[in-house]
Amino acid sequence: MADFTLLICDWYRRNKRDLPWRNTKNPYYIWLSEIILQQTRVDQGLNYYLKFISNYPTIQDLANASEQQVLNDWQGLGYYSRARNLHFTAKVINEKHNGIFPSKYEQIHDLKGIGSYTAAAIGSFAFDLPYAVLDGNVFRVLSRVFDIETPIDSTEGKKEFSLLAQELLPKRNASEYNQAIMEFGALHCTPTKPDCLNCELSTKCLSLKNKTDSIRPIKIGKTKVRKRHFHYFILTDAKNVILSKRSEKDIWQHLFEFPLLETSEEISAETLTKWSNSQYGLNAEINFIEKKHILSHQHIFATFSIIRIKCLKEMIRTENEIIIKIESMQDFPLPRLIDRFLEENAHIIFK
Ligand code: ADE
Repeated sequence: MADFTLLICDWYRRNKRDLPWRNTKNPYYIWLSEIILQQTRVDQGLNYYLKFISNYPTIQDLANASEQQVLNDWQGLGYYSRARNLHFTAKVINEKHNGIFPSKYEQIHDLKGIGSYTAAAIGSFAFDLPYAVLDGNVFRVLSRVFDIETPIDSTEGKKEFSLLAQELLPKRNASEYNQAIMEFGALHCTPTKPDCLNCELSTKCLSLKNKTDSIRPIKIGKTKVRKRHFHYFILTDAKNVILSKRSEKDIWQHLFEFPLLETSEEISAETLTKWSNSQYGLNAEINFIEKKHILSHQHIFATFSIIRIKCLKEMIRTENEIIIKIESMQDFPLPRLIDRFLEENAHIIFK
């Protein structure tokens, strides 16, 4: 439907937001913006994008930085594997591609942290390669305009939408069209309040005609949320505190937190007291502050217990633990849960 692509591009020219990564062909900047925007809204991602291009103006600057520095700059954005992959991939580009961002779709797709969507986005925006993007916005727009009932999260649906998206792509205008359809989904054909009354595509929109617009797109099911119980121990001698680096393949890998006991079920204050007394050789009652932290597929029920002691060295239990000065805590990349807890409670804990 050539009409569809023309209408979408026409709408885009008149309604697009002026975003900095749209005014460049630099593949490094486009890659950076796409990784940031993978799980982050434009208004939140914009400042991080500006910070990253200012702190790391070239791929070489990013490759030469330490992972800890990159994670620190990423702090607050979440999904930290994006930052670790970004750093890792910058080093790969530096070493294997002579520091030049690869320009073929397969090479781009081969890079760590880059899937089909991101490869199509970078390929089209930076190199005008004819690959259609397929993200949540595109699924929604296509399912509505073409009234497609195949669930978008089924294998069949992914195939069907991907074929249609590729068929619709104007091969000589891939960059603009890809931006346009995503922007149309983000600003006009939105998840809950699409502006159908003022839509330039309304006469072409099959779901509007068939009155199925309110039930498009179809999704089979939501992923189950995992509940986790984190019990943190803030071991401090008033000047220093113990931090522990997360090393497992899990959320927050390579970020720092307080020593942790994780349980699969909620536990009582008594059990927590017993455990911490036996772990640290103490005889003290534990009081804790509770906090809930929501991630997309995990709900974390956290408790923070403060343990004031004289000799921190004797409290070290694993090789991931270090003693640091309280003032230097902000130099360490911390999960948002810990950072927020400190914002609210540092004055009580470290008085
Ligand atoms: N979300 C993902 N990529 C984007 C882009 N290039 N512009 C705006 N929003 C986006």
